[in-house]
Amino acid sequence: MNVLPFTRPTLTEDDFAAVRAVLESGWITTGPKAAAFEQALADVLGGGMRVLAFNSGTSALEAALLAADIGPGDEVIVPAMSFVATANVVLRVGARPRFVDVEPRARTLDVTQVAEAIGPRTRAIMPVHFAGRAAELAPLRALAEAHHLWLIEDAAQAIGSTYGGQAIGASGNPVCFSFHPNKNITTIEGGAVALADGPLARRLARIRFHGIEKDAEGEVQVPEWGGKMNLSDVGAALGLAQLPKLADFNARRRALAHGYLERLTPSEWLRLPGDAPGHSWHMFCIELDFAALGCTRAAFIAALAERGIGAGVHYPAMHLFGLYRRLGYGPGDFPQAERIGRQTLTLPLFPGMQMADLDAVCTALEALTQHPPRS
Ligand SMILES: Cc1ncc(COP(=O)(O)O)c(C=O)c1O
Repeated sequence: MNVLPFTRPTLTEDDFAAVRAVLESGWITTGPKAAAFEQALADVLGGGMRVLAFNSGTSALEAALLAADIGPGDEVIVPAMSFVATANVVLRVGARPRFVDVEPRARTLDVTQVAEAIGPRTRAIMPVHFAGRAAELAPLRALAEAHHLWLIEDAAQAIGSTYGGQAIGASGNPVCFSFHPNKNITTIEGGAVALADGPLARRLARIRFHGIEKDAEGEVQVPEWGGKMNLSDVGAALGLAQLPKLADFNARRRALAHGYLERLTPSEWLRLPGDAPGHSWHMFCIELDFAALGCTRAAFIAALAERGIGAGVHYPAMHLFGLYRRLGYGPGDFPQAERIGRQTLTLPLFPGMQMADLDAVCTALEALTQHPPRS
């Protein structure tokens, strides 16, 4: 049986040729390809940003927090529903994630609740552009400015997205991308921070690689701690081959998402994601009321798999994980995130998918909701 995965990287001959060429070049770790990828990304984003490539989205976020001097005693506001890396990086630098609930359809930070969560220890707001849909940046920027907070954007899922006509990543504050294979373009593993050039960018570059910088005489100095977070030239060469195709990939994603929105009918047990200008449709996440259907999500996913259809779960509410319950969070704290966590299901969406595949997914979904699988 042909299995339709929920996601698959789009890799073609030019990608293979680019990787082969760099492997044969004799230089495979960070070097000219990484520098060229950073420049190409800066050109695509616009706004004269400095781009620093990282070996993952997680390390990009961690380095951005460190460069902003966020650490023990500090709080960072994050949405209660995201990939767990969003909160884990805050803990990793010694600070505390302050969870805030999300909007029910957009799944991005609820701005009113962000305003209420800001306290004396708050140092940053970290919105997530969920599934490629931009968070409400204008009011978040206003809040960050009014309270002298960092705005560090988790744009792991939002390469190619826009907000108010401006590319996500072109605002000047640190914006962190991921190029993991399920993202809209890939460097295998990889990430980047886009930000205005200046002292923060220089510090970020230092933190990325052992704290090393060269002084005016070209001598190596290590003024502070740094990690090992640099992107290889092999990953960067793949990124350079992928980047020119990003606009087409995202147009295809949009067409598929619109296909789902036209084909599926919302009901009391099916909630569909909302579209928005500049949405790059990294994922198509629906909500199914499994309790009302009388089946478990696991049984539903297994029944889809029997029909050759893959599905994902993005994401359980983070504050209900054991790690975060130990910080005092618990059930009932963030009702939207908790409902989404129980009911979310990610349907297949990737540029190589055909409209016939989409049709098969919708047919299977309709059949299974009429006759839910018994666990
Ligand atoms: C919202 C979010 N933040 C952070 C990350 C971490 O990125 P990476 O897997 O490249 O470390 C991801 C990856 O899925 C993500 O979806």
